Amino acid sequence: MATDPDLLFEEWLAEARLSEPNDPEAMALATADSEGRPSVRMVLLKGHDENGFVFYTNSRSRKGGELGASARAALLFHWKSLRRQVRIEGPAEPVPEAQADLYFASRSRPSQLGAWASEQSSPLESRALFEARYQQLAEQFGEGEIPRPKHWWGYRVEAERIEFWSDRAHRLHERRLFVRQADGWSESLLYP
Ligand SMILES: Cc1cc2nc3c(=O)[nH]c(=O)nc-3n(C[C@H](O)[C@H](O)[C@H](O)COP(=O)(O)O)c2cc1C
Repeated sequence: MATDPDLLFEEWLAEARLSEPNDPEAMALATADSEGRPSVRMVLLKGHDENGFVFYTNSRSRKGGELGASARAALLFHWKSLRRQVRIEGPAEPVPEAQADLYFASRSRPSQLGAWASEQSSPLESRALFEARYQQLAEQFGEGEIPRPKHWWGYRVEAERIEFWSDRAHRLHERRLFVRQADGWSESLLYP
């Protein structure tokens, strides 16, 4: 039976969880603006299944704006301890609101307050201003439940291509490429 790249990804992630010194779920997220200018930053993988790879962020951030502009993304995991990388490309879509609510509710209170306090990617006059905003919000919410800010949500990148790269001696690395087809995945090798 053909290899399922989603299962293979889970195997590699499980191995990375055992060997990486921190953040095995960290992945680079590449987006582009409406003129095709690329930008890249790290985010954390918060969910994965056959429907895609999920991360959470502020939709008013630079990446949020770029995902609005092109709705396509590329993800990259690099697990240094295993000498492996996984490249993922495909369209990105917001997750359903109920899913974003559920994940937001599972975050720590300080992270929830941080999501309210941060105008992610906008210029910040001073660190003190950010801390004052945070304090003010902490007092405003008191002991009450902190709802999800409407501009804070998750995106799911639905993989059209997944490539698994593993280090081999003398730079004769292995590259296994999976491409989504109407009836499943095709698998091929690429020269390193
Ligand atoms: C290991 C790591 C994990 C991160 N995870 C997230 C994340 O899950 N969501 C997020 O919005 N920013 C995360 N960040 C911060 C982003 O890299 C970035 O600074 C921020 O999202 C603003 O990016 P933008 O201006 O391109 O939108 C993380 C940074 C690092 C180094």
